[in-house]
Amino acid sequence: MDDVTDTVFRRVISKTAKPDLFFTEFANADGLQSAGREAVLQKLTFTEVEKPLIAQLWGMKPDNYTKTTAELVEMRFSGVDLNMGCPVRNVVKLGACSALINNHELAESLIKATQKGADDKIPVSVKTRVGFDKVDMGWIEFLLRQNLAALTIHGRTAKGQSKVPNDWELIGKIRRMRDDIAPGTMIIGNGDVMSRKQGEELAQEHGLDGIMIGRGVFQDPYVFSGDSPWKRMNTKEKIGLYKRHIKLFEQEWGHKKNPAGLKKFAKVYISGFDGASELRSRLMRCTDTVEMLGILGKA
Ligand SMILES: Cc1cc2nc3c(=O)[nH]c(=O)nc-3n(C[C@H](O)[C@H](O)[C@H](O)COP(=O)(O)O)c2cc1C
Repeated sequence: MDDVTDTVFRRVISKTAKPDLFFTEFANADGLQSAGREAVLQKLTFTEVEKPLIAQLWGMKPDNYTKTTAELVEMRFSGVDLNMGCPVRNVVKLGACSALINNHELAESLIKATQKGADDKIPVSVKTRVGFDKVDMGWIEFLLRQNLAALTIHGRTAKGQSKVPNDWELIGKIRRMRDDIAPGTMIIGNGDVMSRKQGEELAQEHGLDGIMIGRGVFQDPYVFSGDSPWKRMNTKEKIGLYKRHIKLFEQEWGHKKNPAGLKKFAKVYISGFDGASELRSRLMRCTDTVEMLGILGKA
């Protein structure tokens, strides 16, 4: 998740309960092959404990996907995933991400360019939605014909964003299509999964190869555990986890990233105990990590 699942947060989650597979934030391949390279590289920073780790790319220029993917192989990523599902207005306006649902020609060029860069050394996958403004099985069939290692389906249209329920029946139907068209492509279901157990039940019910969890990690940093201790953890333990996150941030990013970005994690760790809301309000007024750690140290 963009601006959330950087190397620091992935390292925290590696220690709480690690998923079988991590994905990076989406990184712009065109940006990486331009003067803006340094900023994009932050999204591709990782340590060994985060592996297996898939790099996710977005962008518009096939050549940049080839060059970037060859670099990802050198950087020892476990795979490359193409974002064809993000509905955010700024990227759709460019014709990128979920806009590709209506542009098969460019989508195919980007996939082929990535496969060329991967050179069979790492798997190439796509993450998408079930359509742009309506369910579009032609898009899904098109993707199933691209020789992908995996296809992650968020069971909503781009227009539906997250306001309508996630359609697991449709994801099951896509899995059955896969059986006929592309038996070698794994189908990963995504949308509103809040626990590993719930994910495993959905995978079983619809015959899926995997489940992706996004926002569930905001409610429970142990979401990938079969038996999360989060609700049983005391205030000190929760605060301790946040302090660990902040210290790792200081070590990794120093002044390279704005510490204000750490405040969005207050809701994750500082919740479910007496005084949590007051503590969060005090943290929101902090201007740096020293101040945040000072407040948490006294809480
Ligand atoms: C803050 C935020 C950032 C996201 N960034 C990405 C991203 O970079 N790449 C991506 O494929 N999906 C991204 N998503 C979408 C999620 O990966 C996921 O598909 C969606 O939230 C539905 O699944 P969930 O209910 O498990 O979160 C993002 C979602 C949120 C809320």
